[in-house]
Amino acid sequence: MNTLHLHTTEDDIRTAAQLLQQGRAVGIPTETVYGLAADARDPAAVASIFEAKGRPQDNPLIVHIASMEQLAPLVQEIPPLARKLAKAFWPGPLTMIFRRADTLPASVSAGLPTVAIRMPSHPVARKLILRSGCPLAAPSANTSGRPSPTTAGHVLDDLGGRIAAVVDAGPCSVGVESTVIDVTTQPVRLYRPGAVTVEMLETVAGPVEVSHAVTENLAPGEKALSPGMKYKHYAPRAAVVIIKGTPRAYVDFVNRHAGPGVTALCFEQDAPRLRVPTVCYGSRGNDLSQAQELFDALRELDRIDARTVYAACPHTAGVGLAVYNRLLRAAGFAVRTLPFVIGLTGPTGAGKGEVARRLAEQGCRHVDTDRLAHQATEPGSPCLQELAQAFSPQILRPDGSLDRAGLAERAFRTEEGRRTLNAIVHPYVTEQVQNILEQATEPFVVIDAPLLFEAQMHRICDVTVAVLADASERRRRIRERDHLAEEAAALRMQAQPDDEFYLQRADVVLRNDDTLDTLFARTDALLWKWQQEEEDE
Ligand code: TXA
Ligand code: MG
Repeated sequence: MNTLHLHTTEDDIRTAAQLLQQGRAVGIPTETVYGLAADARDPAAVASIFEAKGRPQDNPLIVHIASMEQLAPLVQEIPPLARKLAKAFWPGPLTMIFRRADTLPASVSAGLPTVAIRMPSHPVARKLILRSGCPLAAPSANTSGRPSPTTAGHVLDDLGGRIAAVVDAGPCSVGVESTVIDVTTQPVRLYRPGAVTVEMLETVAGPVEVSHAVTENLAPGEKALSPGMKYKHYAPRAAVVIIKGTPRAYVDFVNRHAGPGVTALCFEQDAPRLRVPTVCYGSRGNDLSQAQELFDALRELDRIDARTVYAACPHTAGVGLAVYNRLLRAAGFAVRTLPFVIGLTGPTGAGKGEVARRLAEQGCRHVDTDRLAHQATEPGSPCLQELAQAFSPQILRPDGSLDRAGLAERAFRTEEGRRTLNAIVHPYVTEQVQNILEQATEPFVVIDAPLLFEAQMHRICDVTVAVLADASERRRRIRERDHLAEEAAALRMQAQPDDEFYLQRADVVLRNDDTLDTLFARTDALLWKWQQEEEDE
């Protein structure tokens, strides 16, 4: 079959309307996605839609109308609430489920006693419904399982040669399919999120029940209330994993997993920092742009032959819920949650250890970089070999273990020696920290690092915290804790950066000038704030 590529001229609209009247299937633009339309009252026309898409017979279609007069004959009743919702959101990207009248063949709704109806706002869709005089059954015009088409090109890629024509009106403005709600139930139930958001619906209809299937996989054997939600959908050939976490965590994760075929499905803002091929879907914080671009981006992944895709996770407020819902299906519900990383530092004696202990008690994973540095220099380790080469084989004891005092003596003699030591040890420690982050199941991880900034480890943190205290108080604590003389304590303090160093670099400063309880209260308040922020994500 030759598929006509029509445009929006009067002649072409007339041609398309005639084809629809003849019971043929035509790709049509709507504000959401392109639909594959045919006369909803004609069983043969409806059958040809299922045939062209390869659509499972149990997945019902949406019937498109252009006026409220067209609605009445198609449904058994119009609940008053549906009338209110229609008034508020029609024409537009909202589909409502009614009890089906006998004027429609059962096949339109795959044998269900209900039927899904929507009044699109796209002027070309409206024209075609009015000119043909047909209520139009129209699922999205993709091959079943593929991302929905948002351009006529997508329709032709999938269905060229299998349908009579496509009417090309350029890219769709919304980009994700309509919101589907059931108005035969109280409260109104949401089956599929779209550009008419839950928040918008609730202003008219009161509380809306969001079907758990919107964001969760169906349990084995569970019946889908909306059959379309049970199918694997929108999936590119690549394995897609959604990465939940801060933008920093997302970028670090992807860069660490770079490799052949690895691709980032990201927001525009992320792309410059990613070291793998990127496909963008809109910008972070702009749910409308994400909706508009998602399906084309999913198709692009196939075009560039992506194998493993790490997708940045959208926010789920507003239209973001629709974006997340589609992305979840494209990913087969594979979601990976990355921890929020707190970098904790400060000069000796200020109370960093107390804060770390408190955070650990509150459920944060505590990563002690001093301990990791010790582990990195175990006998036979590559780090130890590098140290021996840089300083002297004499820093090794006969049994191959590190003579720490000997190393300290050589390394700390000069600024240069200290720098060399750090340049060798820090990368090993950072690597270990990243391995721990990778395995962490806790939502919060604390990197406890005296040299957080010196080792550049702040770069793998979402927030940095410096614990500071009065010098006299610190001296007292050091003396008490390490049983040092006044002079030795002063020397130890001198070897450390001053408060200004931390004040310039840390995101947050925790002062420890009062009681321990005050320090703990401040620590708890910070953690509480981060937890709230993460929940709002
Ligand atoms: O934006 C849209 O709605 C696009 C454009 C073309 O209008 N159409 C579209 O249709 O997305 P389709 O067939 O791809 O998706 C229809 C969805 C499916 O998830 C289907 O299961 C659900 O609506 N649905 C249709 N009739 C239903 C019914 N009677 N009860 C429950 N769910 C129904
Ligand atoms: Mg579809």
